[in-house]
Amino acid sequence: MSYLLGLDLGTSGARAALVDAEGRVRATATAEYPLSQPRPLWSEQDPADWWRGAREALRAVLAGSGVRGEAVAALGLTGQMHGATFLDAADQVIRPAILWNDQRTAAACAEITRRVGAERLVAITGNPALTGFQAPKILWLRAEEPASYARVARVLLPKDYIRLLLTGEAATDASDAAGTLLLDLRARDYSQEVLEALEIPRAWLPRVYEGPEVTGGLRPDVAADLGLSAGLPVVAGGGDNAAAAVGAGVIRAGVVSSSIGTSGVLFAHSDVPALDPQGRLHGFCHAVPGAYHLMAVVLSAGGAFQWLRDTLRAIAPDLSYPRLVELAAGAPPGAEGLLFAPYLTGERTPHLDPLARGAWVGLTSRHGLGHMARAVMEGVVFAMRDGLEIMRALGAPISEIRATGGGAKSAFWLQLQADVYGVPVHTLAAEEGPAHGAALLAGVGAGLFADVAEAVHRGVRVAGVTEPDPERARRYTECYAAYTGVYPALRGTMHRLGEV
Ligand code: XUL
Repeated sequence: MSYLLGLDLGTSGARAALVDAEGRVRATATAEYPLSQPRPLWSEQDPADWWRGAREALRAVLAGSGVRGEAVAALGLTGQMHGATFLDAADQVIRPAILWNDQRTAAACAEITRRVGAERLVAITGNPALTGFQAPKILWLRAEEPASYARVARVLLPKDYIRLLLTGEAATDASDAAGTLLLDLRARDYSQEVLEALEIPRAWLPRVYEGPEVTGGLRPDVAADLGLSAGLPVVAGGGDNAAAAVGAGVIRAGVVSSSIGTSGVLFAHSDVPALDPQGRLHGFCHAVPGAYHLMAVVLSAGGAFQWLRDTLRAIAPDLSYPRLVELAAGAPPGAEGLLFAPYLTGERTPHLDPLARGAWVGLTSRHGLGHMARAVMEGVVFAMRDGLEIMRALGAPISEIRATGGGAKSAFWLQLQADVYGVPVHTLAAEEGPAHGAALLAGVGAGLFADVAEAVHRGVRVAGVTEPDPERARRYTECYAAYTGVYPALRGTMHRLGEV
């Protein structure tokens, strides 16, 4: 029996999944590492912590499963997107890695937009310059830490730094590379035009592979340390969202995943290069060879609900999520005219506004905690619907929504998504996230599956469906229309509040 490994280099820790030849997850293991915020808006990690966490998770998943290392046929990599790991000519780390949720690069984004041109940037890369992406971090280093910049010989995305240590090869995959802002989306390779405009040497960047392609073999010393075979094929894999989409079977047009975790992500597969000329949705390559995806990112989704629970715990220490959902369920759909804008950490889709703020709008003396809790949950799904509406307007077919993340584990969140989207929401038999998808891609690379479609056919199963209730769906369409007026009305005030 052959097995596959998937490794997800997440923001809070590394997660390894061991998958069997049928594509089913047999065991998982995680190893946490710290996140450092040395200044307001900064977010960094020590790549040495990633390396320790990655090896710990891989060793633990093997030990926990009892499967021998020689039975593993390939390893696939995935992880947090957009981060910059700066290496010198001896491949030594120059400074802590700057992460996807770091907001220090506003000036660099403005410079990129000026140098390339706003329209040209979206036309080539599929995206505007956003603070979290990798390219602005390179320009930030050049402007702010010239001594570090002078030593740079390589810039790698987080999972690709681990790949370098595992295999000795500098390589990446098209889905993650698209999040650098340096990729020509159509060519699925770096854009010479953008590189020249930003004066970034191509030699600093790793070669771009398709998700299931083998990028190298496990180095003998690392293999001995991990209990795996020397030369074990390591496949390119994907950014965490693209790999999670493979794990959720989002590999054909019409299928969209709706993930509610800390953030909320809508991910739509596309067979052709898809982009939003206004840049409100991310346009990236998929981990499926030759395919693309559109992605809406709501920064505080489950995070907004968590904020509410944590805040209330100051006076009700035992308050649980189920109790808060019960309170929310006690209020009627639409929370009797109460709306919540969930922009607690700024917003990407659709406003692209780091200064956006949260708000309850429409409070009356009739409203109680249940209404407020319900409005928070509804506001999160309205914010996700903003992304869905842009997808619809761009002509993306939407025939099936698959719920993933924490939002797929609660009947109330599921029904709310079905009612607000007005589309049936499907759930998966087992949902193991990006590490599962990376392992399936590894299975394609190792020849266990003919292609990604076969891997998904074997390893991913839809288990249930939640239908929208027509009456509530109508009600929510009215409430959503009112919700779309909230941000434009409050934008000026939100921005002013950042200055007082
Ligand atoms: C995607 C994004 C996050 C990171 C971290 O654009 O910024 O989803 O990949 O998980």
